[in-house]
Amino acid sequence: MTNTAPTIDDGHTVPGAGDLAARALAVSKVYGSGDARVTALGEVSIGIPRGRFTAIMGPSGSGKSTLMHCMAGLDSIDAGQVFIGDVELNRLDDKRLTRLRRDRVGFIFQAFNLVPTLTALENITLPMDIAGRKADKAWLDRVIDTVGLRPRLGHRPSQLSGGQQQRVACARALASRPEIIFADEPTGNLDSRSGAEVLGFLRDSVREMGRTIVMVTHDPAAAAYADEVVFLGDGRIVDTMAAPTAEKVLERMKGFDLPGVGSA
Ligand SMILES: Nc1ncnc2c1ncn2[C@@H]1O[C@H](COP(=O)(O)OP(=O)(O)OP(=O)(O)O)[C@@H](O)[C@H]1O
Ligand SMILES: [Mg+2]
Repeated sequence: MTNTAPTIDDGHTVPGAGDLAARALAVSKVYGSGDARVTALGEVSIGIPRGRFTAIMGPSGSGKSTLMHCMAGLDSIDAGQVFIGDVELNRLDDKRLTRLRRDRVGFIFQAFNLVPTLTALENITLPMDIAGRKADKAWLDRVIDTVGLRPRLGHRPSQLSGGQQQRVACARALASRPEIIFADEPTGNLDSRSGAEVLGFLRDSVREMGRTIVMVTHDPAAAAYADEVVFLGDGRIVDTMAAPTAEKVLERMKGFDLPGVGSA
């Protein structure tokens, strides 16, 4: 277990790209200048192991979304390196970066970001339709069955519950078999039952379908679905935890004494 845990740069080694779906090496990200200058990430190094479910936790403003956006190539970095597999994102021009994101990375956001005029099935296949790629029928069937929405495929988002809409968004992220899926507070807009549905689905897609998922959450119960938890504080990785439980995560967060954590 320990050899696949996310690694941090306080003396631990960051392994090569071999078993890592993504990694950041000494990544810094600064917003604004002068008095408004904010170091959102300060030399963060982390490896995301393939075939694992990694949760990122930390107080509001600690840099969780920034880290995720930088690792996914959605935001630029000011120093360091970011890799998806063995491809260094900083070396790609815009066109190649867009293609890499489209072909190799999936996203799930807190707001489900579905197209209201399309059916569930059309939403799921939209990224592939735009890319002009045919869905692998067997894989798509498996994703749809795992997400449990076969009877709802012809429904539009307004005809679906929040949990169902987010499961459509999960299926959309999985449909093209991306190497890695980044999810930012995917259950932030859901009640606890719908949240559990979505988290169970994400966990199953890792355990049973071999996917790699990184999920930002502030909820210890959500983090407990992950294989490992990485704790951010003030733009730095402050700890990691393998085999998390909600109780252990809550306990650890109290230990950090970080304002805002666990109070949501
Ligand atoms: N576009 C921006 N311009 C200026 N500052 C920003 C910008 N985006 C983020 N920041 C700052 O960078 C820091 C990290 O923000 P980030 O969104 O990564 O936090 P977070 O951990 O995701 O918080 P939350 O839990 O509230 O979503 C914060 O201090 C934030 O104010
Ligand atoms: Mg955020």
